[in-house]
Amino acid sequence: MKEMENCIRTVRAWTDSLPQKPLAYVHTFGCQLNAADGEKLCGLLQEMGYGMTDSTQQASLILYNTCAVRENAEDRVFGTLGSIKKLKLENPALVLCVTGCMTAQPTVAEKLRKSYPYVDIVLGSNAVQKLPEMLCDHIQGKRFAWDIDVSTDIPENVPTARESTFKAAVPVMYGCNNFCTYCIVPYVRGRERSRKPEAILEEVRSLIDSGYKEIMLLGQNVNSYGKDLEQNMDFPSLLREIDKLPGDYWIRFMSSHPKDAGPALMDAVLECEHLAKHLHLPVQSGSNAVLQRMNRRYTVERYLEQVAYIREKCPDFSLTTDLIVGFPDESEADFQGTLELMRKVRFDNMYSFIYSKRTGTKAAVMPDSITDAEKSERMGRLLALQREIAVENNRRFVGRVLRVLTDGESKKRPGMLTGRSSENMLVEFPGTSAQIGQFVNVKITDSHSGMVSGVLTD
Ligand code: SAM
Ligand code: SF4
Ligand code: F3S
Repeated sequence: MKEMENCIRTVRAWTDSLPQKPLAYVHTFGCQLNAADGEKLCGLLQEMGYGMTDSTQQASLILYNTCAVRENAEDRVFGTLGSIKKLKLENPALVLCVTGCMTAQPTVAEKLRKSYPYVDIVLGSNAVQKLPEMLCDHIQGKRFAWDIDVSTDIPENVPTARESTFKAAVPVMYGCNNFCTYCIVPYVRGRERSRKPEAILEEVRSLIDSGYKEIMLLGQNVNSYGKDLEQNMDFPSLLREIDKLPGDYWIRFMSSHPKDAGPALMDAVLECEHLAKHLHLPVQSGSNAVLQRMNRRYTVERYLEQVAYIREKCPDFSLTTDLIVGFPDESEADFQGTLELMRKVRFDNMYSFIYSKRTGTKAAVMPDSITDAEKSERMGRLLALQREIAVENNRRFVGRVLRVLTDGESKKRPGMLTGRSSENMLVEFPGTSAQIGQFVNVKITDSHSGMVSGVLTD
């Protein structure tokens, strides 16, 4: 930490000596955990004297915070880096920095070194706090600053430039131990490390005191929270501790792995006053054979029991999920199992992905006889079913009053605002900008695909 602070001071002295405040452009790819890292990277850059810009043309530092979860995520980054080369040739003083999950793969790091030699700084994942050190090296003349170790540090007390003034992401743990056979995350993010509960509680308390209305607790599998801590603390207990903090706010969290989402978690979610009525429980597949090959360590039957437990106590509870289509050798019968599970659970929303082969994972060497065309065709059927279910599900809100946290103005319909209900339902209603960032009550008059609409009420 001392090192970080010293380096911040050195870079700050350098930026202060420039005739104009330098501007930084930061782009984050990938998940909400990466976005939370991105906010820390921006916080550090500001602390080091940079202003922020949305334009790569105006920037004197460009930073890409990358994602490796699927091949297309990586392709996007390589494409972007290719298009930035021109700027670097025009302005050799431009600092180009790549960090995040992609850099933690040796093959990618090698590709960066060979094919993108104009990148100045390559920084591994979990290493936001090292950015000042790398910039320090760079301004002191080191042509190529390179550190791709998967850091095991937990970044505490790192300056954070939050994107929103009312919604905040708070990582509770880093890394993943699950090694689902398709997934690169454990390789690029390292083993599970939990933050101390006191640090989390302090951060949440201070956010609530500063007017934040929604806190999203983040981890690759929040249900593993606390297993590595000396003190006796697990995720349901952490939720109950946070819930005791006074104030008008919602708590959400993601992701929850079904293998250890037991009654203690469900009860905490149902009983805590500040917990949103929504659970994201990624199921990945509705076939036991596929779940086993994925190393998910639960069955369809157990997943359905968890859903039944929560729905029995709260029939209206909102569930969302992640699904992978076209896992190696997924048969039509396996895929039918997924559609069947969707019909039984009736998710309000889902994130579905066509399986993407990740070098280094176990699934990458599994035999796969399904063609890309079959995978796309299955994805089409899955999306059509989900649309049908969501349209029917959304009708349950018509005539009811939903408490909504207003996000902003509708991009499609001027004069309309959008926000999310406790169930995480997208709600559109007429209102004024003064309501942005506030809780409002909306009487729902119509339901559509993917959203509901209504009018403000008391
Ligand atoms: N830790 C979370 C969990 O287990 O639910 C998921 C985190 S992962 C970043 C988000 C989602 O990406 C996963 O739930 C999975 O559906 C999807 N995913 C991960 N690896 C994938 C791959 N190789 N191909 C396609 N989708 C993948
Ligand atoms: Fe990937 Fe599985 Fe870990 Fe989620 S739990 S990050 S899918 S390995
Ligand atoms: Fe991508 Fe890394 Fe998140 S691989 S999904 S940015 S943890």
